[in-house]
Amino acid sequence: MSLDLKSLVRTIPDYPKPGILFRDITTLIEHPEGFKESVEAIAAGYRGQGFTHVAGIEARGFIFGAGVAIALGVGFVPVRKRGKLPGTTIGQNYALEYGVDTIEIHADVLDENHKVLVVDDLIATGGTAIAAVGLIRRTGASCDHAAFVIDLPDLGGAAKLKAEQVEVSALMA
Ligand code: PRP
Ligand code: ADE
Repeated sequence: MSLDLKSLVRTIPDYPKPGILFRDITTLIEHPEGFKESVEAIAAGYRGQGFTHVAGIEARGFIFGAGVAIALGVGFVPVRKRGKLPGTTIGQNYALEYGVDTIEIHADVLDENHKVLVVDDLIATGGTAIAAVGLIRRTGASCDHAAFVIDLPDLGGAAKLKAEQVEVSALMA
């Protein structure tokens, strides 16, 4: 039986700053069937399409991205915050709904033979996902699909990604 996944996501007002309505996926992932259904529902949209890797964005994108990679039988590439990866990296600055940050990937992990699906828990302004797609494309890999558990359409991120020729899916808005 399929669950109402949206009802398992909790909204916390004024975190981490006043005015932000924080969509908290910890209540979804602590629900065993909710977590499993979320991962399987994302993976179902991308089977048999030649993806070679899932790229998950630190930190919450690791939770769902790792599960999707296992479900698809492909490798997992961690897109990490600045300074966390031990090898040579390439990086990209980006603006968040509530700050600025830098993401990095290892420079030698992807090339033009690879087709990468970006996975994260949530898209808001799209700054993080656009930075991730840009980084991955700089390696020569194709990166034309991004999957999220939650889209906040009022913040415009999915529309911005689509303008970059990225197909976007989300389990809920
Ligand atoms: C959150 C979320 C996305 C990003 C979405 O991560 O998990 O990665 O913000 O925002 P955007 O679409 O406006 O870029 P955050 O940077 O808070 O890091 P965390 O996963 O470590 O909590
Ligand atoms: N990341 C960016 N905006 C967010 C929000 N409103 N809730 C949870 N994570 C976020």
